[in-house]
Amino acid sequence: MENINKKLMKLAIEATEFAYVPYSNFRVGAAILAKNGKIYTGCNIENASYTPTNCAERTAIFKAVSEGVTEFKKIAIVGGPNGNLLESCSPCGVCRQVIAEFVDKDFEMILGNSEDNYTVYKFFVDIFPFSFTKDDLNKK
Ligand code: THU
Repeated sequence: MENINKKLMKLAIEATEFAYVPYSNFRVGAAILAKNGKIYTGCNIENASYTPTNCAERTAIFKAVSEGVTEFKKIAIVGGPNGNLLESCSPCGVCRQVIAEFVDKDFEMILGNSEDNYTVYKFFVDIFPFSFTKDDLNKK
């Protein structure tokens, strides 16, 4: 049976080819698996004005949400300078917050640098504990 984690890693690595990074030269790729089985990929997209830069994770998740897909199971993320993928490329705080909006406690994050070298993390336990989410808005 096909290993979905390996497949997501492969797609995330492939997505780095499209990274638009004339300023940092730091390529990031992401592949997110929706609960409906579809996979959306994304790369980082930089801008001469710097702050409009969109990270790879958000590109992937926004592509999905813009097509009506809002529930996800797991995401693979890779990245590094000059095409040299880091052992592990940790998502920025903004991306963690955006991801948190659309995922539940079982969501997994896969970080690594090849189809054979990655670690699977529990998002809300290992990556984004003590987060603020929509659940907090309804607390009394
Ligand atoms: N970047 C991402 O795409 N994802 C992250 O989570 C961290 C940072 C991008 C933004 C920018 O284009 C480059 O990496 C350097 O910060």
